[in-house]
Amino acid sequence: MAVVTGAGQGIGAALARALAAEGARVVVNDINGANADEVARLLSEEGLQAIGEHSDISSFDGAEALMEAAVQAYGGVDILVNNAGILRDRMSFNMSEAEWDQVIAVCLKGTFACARAAVRHMRRSGKPGRIINISSRSGLRGSIGQANYAAAKAGVLGLTRTMSREVEKYGITVNAISPRAVTGMTDSVPDAVRRKKDASWSDSSVVLRGSPAQVAPAVLYLASEEAQWVNGQVIGIGGDKLSLWTHPRETVEAYSFGGWTLQKIRELFRPTFGSELQSVGNKD
Ligand SMILES: NC(=O)c1ccc[n+]([C@@H]2O[C@H](COP(=O)([O-])OP(=O)(O)OC[C@H]3O[C@@H](n4cnc5c(N)ncnc54)[C@H](O)[C@@H]3O)[C@@H](O)[C@H]2O)c1
Repeated sequence: MAVVTGAGQGIGAALARALAAEGARVVVNDINGANADEVARLLSEEGLQAIGEHSDISSFDGAEALMEAAVQAYGGVDILVNNAGILRDRMSFNMSEAEWDQVIAVCLKGTFACARAAVRHMRRSGKPGRIINISSRSGLRGSIGQANYAAAKAGVLGLTRTMSREVEKYGITVNAISPRAVTGMTDSVPDAVRRKKDASWSDSSVVLRGSPAQVAPAVLYLASEEAQWVNGQVIGIGGDKLSLWTHPRETVEAYSFGGWTLQKIRELFRPTFGSELQSVGNKD
C-alpha cells in the first residue's frame, strides 16, 4: 500500500504507475485534484489499484488527511514517496518572502508533515515501512536562482538522515532520491539557463535527464523488501545514470590545544586547507 504525493503528473505519476504495476495499491495525491483523479482512473482502467486524493501536503492537517484517506481506502500505508514539489526561482537578492515561504512549505515542511504522519501509522502496524524523499541535485550542490528550493531540498537530506536513525528500530527505512527527468517542472526553467546547463553535458552521449519513468526503478528498489538494509542514503537517478552520493564529512582536521587564534588560522589555512578547498558548482 503506497502513497505518492504530487503524483498528478511528472515524476510522481510515473512512480505511482510503477508501484501499482508492481502490485501496490496506490493513493495518488495531488493538490491538482483533477490530475490526481485522472492518473488514478487511467491506472484503474488498466486493472491496477489506485485512488485519487487531493490534500495540500504543505500542512500537518493536509498530511494527516492524506494518511487517513490511505487508511480508509487500503487499511494503512507501507510506502510513502514524498514527491510533491514546486519551484519559485529568482536570484536570492530579488526573492520575495512569499516565494521563499511557498517553496519551503511544499518541499520541506510538506515532506516532514507526510513522513511524520506516515511513521505514526507505520509504527502502529508493526510491518516494515518505507519512506522515500525526493530531494534534488540543487540541495546537494547548490543552484543559482534557487536559494529557496536548494535550502528546502538540502533540508530534506538532513530530515532523511535524522528520521532514518530515529525509525530504524521499527523496521522503517528513510532514504532520498535525487532525480533528473524532463517534466513540467523542468519546462519552467528559463530557456537560457537550460541551454547553458545542457551545454555542459553535450560532449557525452550519456542521457542524464530522461523520462520520468526512468526514475522509477530506484524507488521500486528502495521500496522493496530486499532493500531493508539500505537506510539514510541518497541515490541519484536519471536517464542512463545511477549514483550513490556521499554524506558530508570533514576533509581535513587540525587541532590547536587551548583553541584557535586568528594568527594560528592564518598560518595554517592556506598551506593545510588550501588544496582541499572545493569549488561549489553544478558542472560535474
Ligand atoms: N524533474 C526533475 O528533473 C527534477 C530534478 C530534481 C528534483 N525533482 C523533484 O522531483 C519531484 C517531482 O518533480 P516533477 O519534475 O515531476 O514536477 P511537476 O511539477 O511535474 O510535479 C509536481 C507535482 O506536485 C504537485 N504539488 C505541488 N504542490 C503540492 C502540494 N502542496 N500538495 C500536493 N501536491 C502538490 C503539483 O501539482 C504537481 O503535480 C519534485 O519534488 C521535484 O522537486 C525533479
